[in-house]
This record gives sequence, structure tokens and C-alpha cells, in this order.
Amino acid sequence: MKLLIDKSMLKKNRFFALNTLLFLFAACSTTKSNLSDTNKGLKNYYQDYFPIGVAVAPKDVSGQQDSFILKHFASLTPENAMKMGYIHPKEKEYNWHDADEIVEFAVKNNLKVRGHALCWHEQNPSWLFKSETGGQVSKEELLKRLRNHIYTVVNRYKGKVYAWDVVNEAIDDDSTKFLRNSLWYQICGEDFISKAFEYAHEADPEAKLFYNDYNTERPEKRERVFKLLKKLVDAGVPINGVGLQAHWSIYEPSQKELKTTIEQFSSLGLNIQITELDMSIYPWEKERRQKRVGEIDTLTPELEQMQIDQYSKVFKIFRQYRKNITGVTFWNLSDRSTWLDNYPVPGRKNYPLLFDQEFKPKKAYWEVIDFKKK
Ligand code: GLA
Repeated sequence: MKLLIDKSMLKKNRFFALNTLLFLFAACSTTKSNLSDTNKGLKNYYQDYFPIGVAVAPKDVSGQQDSFILKHFASLTPENAMKMGYIHPKEKEYNWHDADEIVEFAVKNNLKVRGHALCWHEQNPSWLFKSETGGQVSKEELLKRLRNHIYTVVNRYKGKVYAWDVVNEAIDDDSTKFLRNSLWYQICGEDFISKAFEYAHEADPEAKLFYNDYNTERPEKRERVFKLLKKLVDAGVPINGVGLQAHWSIYEPSQKELKTTIEQFSSLGLNIQITELDMSIYPWEKERRQKRVGEIDTLTPELEQMQIDQYSKVFKIFRQYRKNITGVTFWNLSDRSTWLDNYPVPGRKNYPLLFDQEFKPKKAYWEVIDFKKK
């Protein structure tokens, strides 16, 4: 009996010693392995800052990526499903299926939803700008169509979509011009912008309404966006915030450019959201072109390091400006497939996100969740 007790004590001691060793080992191991042992996702590290979101397609929420999404993200944006050409293909026909699927998934799992986008110069249905006789629609008729569209879509997702990109990309690419010469502009003048906000506010007075654009950190574009925002705010248009699309690259924006943009736009009393974040490994380009002979498309260690540094810097700024920033959304889930794989160079692979082609956190991810990093 005595011997038995001794043996069991010995076993217990060994067990205790082993556990102590394991504990010490875990405590001394690197940040990365500590963090990777937990069930925490990106959204958890930022829960005291702002919701972290991601743009998705219906297939992302109805298959193998469900648990990945739920682990890392607190908010969803339908990447394409709510764009006018998709959701409103004919004047009297709406295509709710895909948007409904994404919104239902979000509601079921307690995620926020950003609606994208109510009024844009691209991806519009062909009927939108045509009159019944085949010519160009009148201003009065186009605004009526815009109102019907906004009332119907916003009303359907009332209480489920908390924020809308109301007007997307109204500023011209040419730095010497102000508003883009889109069909919206040609037919309605600037009025379509304030009207879109008014209709959205009438349809859902609770929703947060955003103007959304790209290259908002480049000084010349920032000034023109600021001019538009100021006009809207001064005129009492119901706008709550501005979306910085943040289709950035390892080369821009600089920290100073980003801070100036946040400060300048916030000075108008507007919230800031980062709405379409990705970090291309190539310089920014817009015009479609063929891949050049010898143009490499691999994530070399040098490019990866630049991306790590750039992600680390911008997230540090986001944290500093947490009072102004009310959301940060990534544009796509992982490097397995992103819109930048083909844009603007068909067949050129890009690696712009925090998760690799196997959905594993990249080195940049560990920097982004390491708040002690300078
Ligand atoms: C713009 C739009 C988005 C999307 C991207 C490319 O940023 O706002 O909806 O089309 O281009 O995916």
C-alpha cells in the first residue's frame, strides 16, 4: 500500500513538473507562437478600436471560409452583390439573392454590414441612363430612378445594414478637374450627389452615410475630395463620414499623407472609415495593360518586408486615430484570390492581404496585432 502511495505521488510530481515545464516553455516562446495558439482573430485584437471587416461574395459565406470569416472579421461588405448593375438589372426587377445571402449570414452571426454602393459611375445597368424612346434620360427622370433605387434597396436592409457607401468615386482622375464627367454628372450636374444622400437618409434615418473614394491621401486628390465634402457639410446634406478606399501599395501613402487626410476630413466633423483596404506589391496603376516581358509576380523577401512595414505603419496610425476611425474593411479575404490578381494587368498575381494563399496569417499579420511595435 505504502509503495503504491509513493508511486502515485511520484507520478503526480512528474505530472506537475511536466506541466510547469510546458508552462515555462509557452511563456518564453515568441509572440507569434503564443498568439497562434489562441483562438483570437484579427477582430479580437481590435475590438476596443473599431470593427474589422471584409468584402465578400456569397460563395465566401456559404462554404469553407465561414469559420475563417467568423474568426477574424466583425463586419461584412458585399463586394459586388449590392452594386446597381447587379442588384437592379432591369427597371422593375431586383436581384436580391446574393445580397440577401450575405446579409442573412451576417445577421445570423452577429456581424455588422456595410452597404456598397448606392450611386457610382461604374457597373450600372444598361436601362438606367436610357429614356423610354431610347435617347438619354432627363435629369428629372434619372433622379426619380435614383430615388426609387435607393428607397427600395435601403429599405430592404433597414436595421441590418448600419452604413452605406452612398456615392462612390465622384471626383475626376484628372487633377485639374473637379467632378468626374460621368453620365450622372452630365445629366444631373452636381445635384445627384446631395440627392443621393437625401434619399438614403429618408429611407433609413439611422444608417450612417458615407462618401467613398480612392487615392484620398494624394495631396491633389485630397484637396478636391475635401472641397466636395465641405460643400456637402456646409449645405446641411446628411452625410456622416468619408470612406478612404485604401487600395494602397507598399509605396504609398506616406505616414504624413495618411495622417493629414484623416485630420483634414475629420475637421469637418465626419467619421473616417477605411473601406477597401489592400496593399499591392506594385506601384498604383489604373489603365489596363498587358504583362511586360520579364515582369515578375512573386512576393520576394524584399517586397514582403516592404509590405510588412507598410501594414505595420498604417495600422499604428489607425490605432492613434481610433476616435476618428469607425471601421476598417479589407477588400477580399486572402492572397488566394483577390481582384488585384487581374487588375489592371490580366494574369499578374498580387499578394495584397494579411493572409496567404492557404489562408494562414502572413508576417504582416503578426505585426498588425503587435501593438508594441514602433
Ligand atoms: C472600387 C469599387 C469597389 C470595387 C473595387 C475593385 O474600389 O468601389 O466596389 O469595384 O473598385 O474591386
